[in-house]
Formats: sequence, C-alpha cells, structure tokens
Amino acid sequence: MIHVRQLIKRFGPKIVLNKMAFDVSQGEFVALIGPNGAGKTTFLRILSSLAKPSIGEVNVAGFHLPGQAASVRQRLGVVSHMPLLYGDLTASENLLFYGRMYDVADLTHRVQEVLQLVGLLHRSGDLVRTFSRGMQQRLAIGRAILHNPDVLLLDEPHTGLDQDACDMLDGVLRDVAVSGRTVVMTSHDFVRAQNLASRFDVLSRGRIVASIPANKLSPDGLQAFYRESLEQA
Ligand SMILES: Nc1ncnc2c1ncn2[C@@H]1O[C@H](COP(=O)(O)OP(=O)(O)OP(=O)(O)O)[C@@H](O)[C@H]1O
Ligand SMILES: [Mg+2]
Repeated sequence: MIHVRQLIKRFGPKIVLNKMAFDVSQGEFVALIGPNGAGKTTFLRILSSLAKPSIGEVNVAGFHLPGQAASVRQRLGVVSHMPLLYGDLTASENLLFYGRMYDVADLTHRVQEVLQLVGLLHRSGDLVRTFSRGMQQRLAIGRAILHNPDVLLLDEPHTGLDQDACDMLDGVLRDVAVSGRTVVMTSHDFVRAQNLASRFDVLSRGRIVASIPANKLSPDGLQAFYRESLEQA
C-alpha cells in the first residue's frame, strides 16, 4: 500500500531523509517512532503529498508521488498539526465541504455520523474558530476519516487531546484497522502506540534503523526496543 525507496529530502544543504526505504502492506498499522528532528513529520508530509521528495521513489495506494498527488489524496486521510479546517465555517459546514470534494455518498448522514463519533454533534453549528485546540483536533480526525480512506496518516494525533478524546481516537483507529485499512502514525506516546500498532519502525537521522512486529514485543518492551535500536544505529 505504501512503497518507498531511496527517498532523499533536503532542505538546502541539510539532508533530512537519507535514502530511506519503507514498505507497508494493506491492513498494517505502523507506529513510526523516533527522536525529535528524526524526520517523521517531513516523511509523513511527503506521503501526504504536502511536500515533495528531493529524489526517490514514493508510491501510495498504487499511485506515485509527486506526479499523481490528486489520486493519492482521494485515498488518504491525514491528521497533522495543521488542522486544515476553515475557521469561518461551522463544524458541519467544514465536513460538508470536504465531503463534496471527495464525493462522499449520503453526505448529510455521514457528516452527522462522524460528528457523533468524534463527540462534536452538540457543537456542529458553531464556527470552528471558536473551538478549543482539542475540539479542532477532534474535528480534524473527523475530516480525515469522513471519506473512509484506504490509508490514514497521523502525526502525533494524541497531542493536545484530553483523556476522553484520546480514548475516542483509539476507538476510531481500532475500527479503521479492523476494517482492513492501512495506518501510519507517529507518536511519542509509547503506551498508546503499543496498544494500537501491528508494527513499530524506528526512524533515526533520516532512515528506518529498526522494525519489529507487535507480536514479537513483550508488553512493556517498546521502550527497551527503542533504546537498543537507537544505540545500535
Ligand atoms: N521547512 C523546513 N526547512 C528547513 N528544515 C526543515 C524544514 N522542515 C523540517 N526541517 C528540518 O528537518 C528535520 C526533521 O524535522 P521533522 O519535523 O521531520 O522531525 P520529527 O521527526 O517530526 O521531529 P518531532 O519528533 O520533533 O516532531 C529537522 O532538523 C528540521 O529542522
Ligand atoms: Mg514531528
């Protein structure tokens, strides 16, 4: 579902992704972990078609990037730190807008369903600029899943959410995973990541330095695996 080879991303003279390789099969849930500045957000931005690779092969859901960005976007849901919402529209108007862009069937019903799912039905008629940060993040999650995308990309999605919203998000992500969709999520929250992911990849200095399936990890083993991976890298 995701296939990356020899990916290089430079900002001026600085090489941020260094001949990176990365593969995800359909139905996998990959938690991408790594220190600050490792290149996780940069990499997700490239997969989301929000940034262009300097060089390299990037294929998402059967389409290559950056050339086929429009086709990739149809099949993607993205939760990032820029919520990609319109402040002067209400919550439901935001979802209706995106739903029309993605040709979502039975849109009015789907918008209500998603607002209910993310716990914002009671605020559906309020302007998004009057929302708290966590409420905006909830709506961003709703926007990302609205069109039932094949691939969901999430950059530290738990950051800024209260405990209820974190549990809501984990529930949404479990449903997404159960329905055979593909998820790549960056996180510094190892406990939540370990409860969700089917595989853990460690990104350090612009490349994947270690990878382990969830069933090979002891219940509290992610921290140890992470430390060892960074020491050996
Ligand atoms: N637009 C940019 N221009 C220049 N350098 C950039 C730009 N975006 C990112 N970088 C650099 O790329 C490197 C990787 O940043 P990135 O945000 O991808 O890290 P990250 O793994 O997401 O870190 P964190 O865990 O802190 O979120 C950093 O050194 C950062 O300064
Ligand atoms: Mg980041």
